[in-house]
Amino acid sequence: MNETAKVVIGGGIIGLSIAWRLVKEGQNVTVVERGQVGQEASRVAAGMLAASAEVGYEEFELYALCRESLRLWPNFALELEQDSGINVDYRSNGTLIVADDRDAAVALKRGFDFQKEHQYPVEWLTREETLALEPFLSPRIVASVFASEDHAVDNRMVIKGLREAILRHGGVIKENSTVESVDLSGTNVVVHVQGQDSVIADTVVVAAGAWSRQIAGLPPEFVPPVRPVKGQILELKMERPFELNHVVRGRKAYLVPRTDGRLIVGATSEEMGFDKRMTAGGVHAVLDGAWDMVPGILDLELSSIDVGLRPGSRDHQPIVGYSNDRRIFIATGHYRHGVILSAVTAVESAKSILSGNDSAVLRYFSPKRFSHLDV
Ligand code: GLY
Repeated sequence: MNETAKVVIGGGIIGLSIAWRLVKEGQNVTVVERGQVGQEASRVAAGMLAASAEVGYEEFELYALCRESLRLWPNFALELEQDSGINVDYRSNGTLIVADDRDAAVALKRGFDFQKEHQYPVEWLTREETLALEPFLSPRIVASVFASEDHAVDNRMVIKGLREAILRHGGVIKENSTVESVDLSGTNVVVHVQGQDSVIADTVVVAAGAWSRQIAGLPPEFVPPVRPVKGQILELKMERPFELNHVVRGRKAYLVPRTDGRLIVGATSEEMGFDKRMTAGGVHAVLDGAWDMVPGILDLELSSIDVGLRPGSRDHQPIVGYSNDRRIFIATGHYRHGVILSAVTAVESAKSILSGNDSAVLRYFSPKRFSHLDV
């Protein structure tokens, strides 16, 4: 058996980010991932750092958490690049939320009024102003909201960077390693890994995304109530004269340009359990929504289609914090916001785990809200 460690179950962007912050603080950290790190929902994301464009009405606590994470992201990205030597393509051009017909414009205006009332950093743009910023948008666009502080990052490069940075700091990443069970009967937690030595941990971080319910040995009241929410996403290749510089979001789709010319187009949101099939209907829905806003995508090469399963909690808010047993820390349920929230989740979770105290920033997202043992 290994010496006492912090064990992170799940090598997605959330688990890896927490592991990175912990190894940087000199902790002995082991990440246990049943496949390869970052190959599930974290890979099949567009990397939108979108607080204003992605958070709904009345989700004030979630919005505040996203804003705090947005504040952290520039330094988080820079530090990760320095630690790993990997460029994560942080783009600060901003996001256009567009209305492509009169109905959509009415809905957009209602949302904009709400955002202004609550001091969101957004600006109303007319059709002409919108098209001046992005000439390849459809001439049918009626108006848009410009969220200048909603940025984007290449989530796949973030994953690579986190993997590299953890290893450089002496962390252990066990891939193709399935947790059989966690044993809470002793002082420390024993994490039994299929076909390998067990790992003894003083703290276990449950960050297995949509699979977080499946860890044997967790008392039922600690099991985070998450379910998979399927997303199908496409990658196109931008070729001149086509160009898109901002993230563009509409009612049915979004488009996220990368500096290397890729254009990520997403995503469906489907309640299909763990079904990961790509479907004609899914691809059609995404393309149709994107096409309405940016008809020029018609000529672009379709380079890949991917499917991911977002971890959606019962109230669609993240579940982050100590369970009722302070050896078990939960970090899942980030749903549509895993990439943006990875920075604040990592920083606050690591602080909490190192100090043994609950994070005030994460208070609203405590797993205890789902526990009948709540105090
Ligand atoms: N945040 C975008 C998505 O989950 O599709």
